[in-house]
Amino acid sequence: MFKLVAGRKVKSCAWMAALLLVVSAAATVPSLRPVKAQGVLSQDQQQTQLAQRGVNSCLTCHNNPSITSVLATPHGGNAASGTPAANQACQNCHGASADHASSMQAPAVVFDGGGRFPASDVEVQNQVCLNCHQSRSTVHWAASEHQAADLACATCHTIHTSQTAMRNELQDEGICLTCHLEQRSQLNRRSHHPVTEGLMSCNDCHNPHGSDAVAMLSRSTVNATCTSCHAEKRGPFLWEHQPVGEDCTTCHNPHGSTQDRMLAVRQPFLCQSCHSEVYHPSFLYSGDDINPNAAGQSVVGSSCTNCHSVIHGSNHPSGARLTR
Ligand code: HEC
Ligand code: HEC
Ligand code: HEC
Ligand code: HEC
Ligand code: HEC
Ligand code: HEC
Ligand code: HEC
Ligand code: HEC
Ligand code: HEC
Ligand code: HEC
Repeated sequence: MFKLVAGRKVKSCAWMAALLLVVSAAATVPSLRPVKAQGVLSQDQQQTQLAQRGVNSCLTCHNNPSITSVLATPHGGNAASGTPAANQACQNCHGASADHASSMQAPAVVFDGGGRFPASDVEVQNQVCLNCHQSRSTVHWAASEHQAADLACATCHTIHTSQTAMRNELQDEGICLTCHLEQRSQLNRRSHHPVTEGLMSCNDCHNPHGSDAVAMLSRSTVNATCTSCHAEKRGPFLWEHQPVGEDCTTCHNPHGSTQDRMLAVRQPFLCQSCHSEVYHPSFLYSGDDINPNAAGQSVVGSSCTNCHSVIHGSNHPSGARLTR
């Protein structure tokens, strides 16, 4: 778990762990000698170029289902010419590791560092992946907050796995929430997007590899992101409500809120943060202002939106005041 939370700390822990292991492993080295491959590969897999190009030299020792699982993922197939399998197989990612295979030096690139050898620098690890993945959704990686925070691709992706999406076992929001505790608490509030319920994921709004928008949003602006689902709020409206076209997060907190409808502030205070001068908006309608028989329309229920019910804009000829 700490592996996820603090890449740098982990590195030093890994170093210590590795040193300890090297010391304590001295006695056990004999048991690490090459063993004969156990024939874990299926007929199909054996026929891949992966097998032909030397994967077997690694599998003499690493013939273990948790490692060979990689052969069943998109990386293991050689249908697409760009896969590791169609190139130098294991060494595409772990580097030329001849010294490792012959004299137990560290492989050129170590990702997890949970074992005998310390993890390679994050830049070195990520460069391996970026050699092949610099298009589509990863194109903004170099300018992303996650790159700046030194996250490894392997933090969120698991390569030796049986699931083809190759994502960490916590999957999507689970992994995100191990680090983003503020969002975790907001998603626990009464009104929230159904992320923890599994109906949406962080990726519906964010691109974890970075983007050209604020907060690594998957669309170019906040509003474009929101209206990709809430299309009816996009307009155009005959009568617009100015802040709506500007930024939905002026009034809503997308991760969750203790107010209804994920409102950032309770009504009428939300409205009064902008409307304070003219006519009735500046009245709180509290105490004596509340007519016990009429039950104070501006504070009960939907408050201001009791009357200004089309708060996102109106197409009614007389909807200038957003009342219809
Ligand atoms: C002679 C046996 C042997 C061969 C051949 C071999 N390895 Fe290893 N490898 C080991 C041992 C032993 C370890 C340490 C295992 C541990 O940490 O528990 C290891 C560790 C590793 C690790 C690091 C694991 C970690 O997180 O610390 C990687 C990566 C690796 N090997 C890749 C390869 C690759 C790629 C090849 C083929 C080029 C290869 N190995 C060939 C025996 C071998
Ligand atoms: C696409 C890149 C890639 C390829 C191809 C690849 N690995 Fe790995 N390997 C990784 C990453 C990333 C990790 C870190 C753990 C994970 O994501 O599963 C890893 C971890 C390991 C480990 C340490 C795992 C542990 O639990 O200690 C070993 C050993 C290893 N790989 C050996 C191999 C061998 C042998 C092959 C060829 C059959 C291979 N790898 C092919 C990327 C790759
Ligand atoms: C030798 C080139 C190569 C390397 C190195 C490589 N990949 Fe891939 N990767 C591919 C190809 C080719 C595919 C399958 C085709 C595709 O979907 O793009 C793929 C597929 C994937 C997928 C699944 C894509 C999907 O559509 O579901 C993920 C995730 C992924 N790689 C992550 C990584 C990570 C993380 C690393 C580094 C540890 C890495 N790759 C290293 C070539 C590579
Ligand atoms: C913060 C977590 C995280 C990190 C770090 C991360 N990814 Fe991803 N990656 C994801 C998630 C989540 C998805 C699935 C996105 C989706 O389904 O929309 C994904 C999807 C992918 C895909 C397949 C789909 C696509 O859109 O191309 C590839 C390839 C990929 N990542 C490569 C990488 C590489 C390379 C790195 C490092 C430079 C990396 N990732 C770093 C979380 C991450
Ligand atoms: C419904 C869309 C949506 C979903 C789902 C969503 N976010 Fe966001 N997120 C946003 C928007 C919009 C912003 C920009 C907020 C702003 O401008 O104040 C943001 C901002 C952030 C920020 C930066 C906050 C800051 O104060 O700078 C982080 C971190 C974040 N989101 C993480 C997550 C994580 C983790 C998840 C999943 C658990 C998630 N988000 C799900 C829309 C979303
Ligand atoms: C290993 C920890 C870690 C994981 C896992 C992680 N993040 Fe982050 N994330 C960070 C750090 C550190 C930053 C930069 C500092 C900050 O803004 O909190 C960041 C920044 C962000 C930002 C941009 C904030 C801004 O101010 O622009 C968003 C959005 C975000 N992460 C979303 C995600 C999503 C979505 C996932 C899951 C797919 C995820 N993160 C997984 C650590 C992590
Ligand atoms: C991927 C689709 C998607 C995106 C993008 C999206 N939403 Fe939502 N939104 C939903 C779903 C699903 C619900 C839940 C509907 C339900 O519970 O009936 C919802 C509900 C809401 C609600 C009503 C909550 C309630 O209590 O009834 C508000 C307000 C809202 N979203 C605002 C936003 C804002 C602001 C953005 C942009 C930051 C945004 N949404 C982006 C899918 C999305
Ligand atoms: C001026 C403040 C404000 C802005 C800006 C705003 N909203 Fe709202 N929104 C509200 C209020 C107030 C409600 C509650 C209405 C009610 O309770 O009748 C609401 C309710 C909602 C709802 C749930 C009820 C419904 O009408 O479907 C969604 C979804 C929603 N807003 C999406 C958005 C989106 C998307 C944007 C940006 C395009 C946005 N809002 C911008 C004030 C705002
Ligand atoms: C971020 C500031 C902001 C917030 C918050 C806000 N408004 Fe507005 N509102 C405006 C602006 C700016 C206009 C356009 C004023 C103009 O054209 O003179 C406007 C126009 C209106 C109008 C049309 C009146 C007119 O003069 O054209 C009504 C009605 C209204 N808002 C009600 C509300 C209600 C109800 C809320 C709370 C749910 C609210 N507003 C929240 C900024 C805001
Ligand atoms: C009982 C219904 C009702 C309630 C509750 C209500 N309004 Fe109004 N509001 C109206 C009507 C009707 C108008 C249009 C008056 C006109 O056109 O002369 C109006 C006009 C406005 C205007 C335009 C003022 C102007 O000078 O042109 C704003 C801004 C406004 N309301 C904001 C609010 C805010 C903020 C609240 C909550 C504190 C609120 N309203 C509560 C009915 C209501």
